[in-house]
Amino acid sequence: MQHDKVLILDFGSQYTQLIARRVRELNIYSEIHPFNKIPSNLEEYKAVILSGSPNSVRGEAALHPELDGIRGVKPMLAVCYGAQYLAHFSGGEVAPSNTREYGRANLSFIKTNEPFFAHIHTGSQVWMSHSDTIKKLPENGVLIASTHDVENAAYRIDGEETYAIQFHPEVYHSTDGKQLLENFLVSIAGVQQDWTPDSFVEETVEAIQEKVGGDKVVLGLSGGVDSTVAAVLLNKAIGDNLYCIFVNNGLLRKDEFESVLKQYEGMGLNVKGVDASDRFLDALKGIEDPELKRKAIGNAFIEVFDDEAHKLTDVKWLAQGTIYPDVIESVSATGGPSATIKSHHNVGGLPDFMKLKIVEPLRAIFKDEVRRVGATLGIDPELLGRHPFPGPGLGIRILGDITAEKVRILQEVDAIFINGLKSWGLYDKVWQAGAMLLPVNSVGVMGDERTYEKCVALRAVESTDGMTADWVNLPYEFLQKTSNDIINKVKGVNRVVYDISSKPPATIEWE
Ligand code: XMP
Repeated sequence: MQHDKVLILDFGSQYTQLIARRVRELNIYSEIHPFNKIPSNLEEYKAVILSGSPNSVRGEAALHPELDGIRGVKPMLAVCYGAQYLAHFSGGEVAPSNTREYGRANLSFIKTNEPFFAHIHTGSQVWMSHSDTIKKLPENGVLIASTHDVENAAYRIDGEETYAIQFHPEVYHSTDGKQLLENFLVSIAGVQQDWTPDSFVEETVEAIQEKVGGDKVVLGLSGGVDSTVAAVLLNKAIGDNLYCIFVNNGLLRKDEFESVLKQYEGMGLNVKGVDASDRFLDALKGIEDPELKRKAIGNAFIEVFDDEAHKLTDVKWLAQGTIYPDVIESVSATGGPSATIKSHHNVGGLPDFMKLKIVEPLRAIFKDEVRRVGATLGIDPELLGRHPFPGPGLGIRILGDITAEKVRILQEVDAIFINGLKSWGLYDKVWQAGAMLLPVNSVGVMGDERTYEKCVALRAVESTDGMTADWVNLPYEFLQKTSNDIINKVKGVNRVVYDISSKPPATIEWE
């Protein structure tokens, strides 16, 4: 890859991934590495950013990066912990803050005409989140901005291309954060803005062709964005040597299997649809515990996929839709670096398809970039804008045991809710939505008759990554119409409730 690269050293901040995403939004390629695993090919990185951290530079758990070959050699931006680290260990002083330093603050510039603050006006809102404060700048430090409560909010080091800021430019509430990153990376460090979805597609297609050659590749499609974009990229690179398998586990949304399969075929993918609904339902019979359900669904999937993969001959590769957040090795907030990489490396007993070589074309990109790449590839915007849907599907939205009849009821309810969101123009305002079938019967009255039927819960949340979420304030009129439609049209349901819990402390799914 011929792009200029930016190295982000992670000290365990909750915002480290956001830094990388903001940099990528500037069409600049960035990589996150733990602070104590500095890549050996340092010469390939044109600039370095030090992240924040939950640790204090004053404590025993202070994290000490090895900055040889970085500080004073490459342009470096130190954020929060990074800024405190430079101060504390290079002749300055860091102490606990006297006042609360969380949330909004406004910058006042000490020096005018600093290229670091080009196109940003004094008073610009920034986001603070720290409990230590820099009392004295490090050697050769030059103060360039303060806020009302934080005198040393931004400084640079004389004679170096080193900048340090106490606030977080990566968060949305720092209104000029992206401009500031652009000032540092483009104007000061001279990094090229050449990382675009088009260039990604072109390079990835070439890289796949080189890696895979004339070999056959198998890939499991889920109907979700990641596996679809991975498939279209691979298809562009190797055509019909890509064998896609799309399994119906019987727990998909109403009519989803047929309609998504048709869509895949329309995209020219070499795809086989396998309806294994009965096999999954059999595997789930009598299971009530959510984790056991997940296990049963996961195992059934592996069996079905393995059976299908065996029908193909000479397959050498397994393709996966793994994306960058799954790959990043991050520093744990509780101290020592911990590997959070998802792994399939069990010992022995692996199904044959898992012994294949792995190709993961989306390993380097974030979810929002996957969508941009998908758009570049001409994938239907409706498919790219789909809400996330869990792998175990409706299996974890039917509380208690699962039967074919319960799946049917929930599919009907879910379809009314989701189609309603679409026709009211609400679907794209919601991050994820769905319905849960509760293991509760309640009394109702329909006509002159008493009923004793099922209750469903509707859930719609806003979120950016599913880690935290809040319920969406859907219009009452919409809820009223949806509830009416569900109770009138879906036999077996006589009560609808709307879930108004945030995550945390609740979760998005009920199981
Ligand atoms: P929770 O319920 O943990 O969900 O707040 C966060 C996000 O993860 C999805 N989710 C799953 N996805 N397999 C998946 O592929 C699972 O077992 C699973 N459980 C939860 C959930 O839909 C939400 O987007």
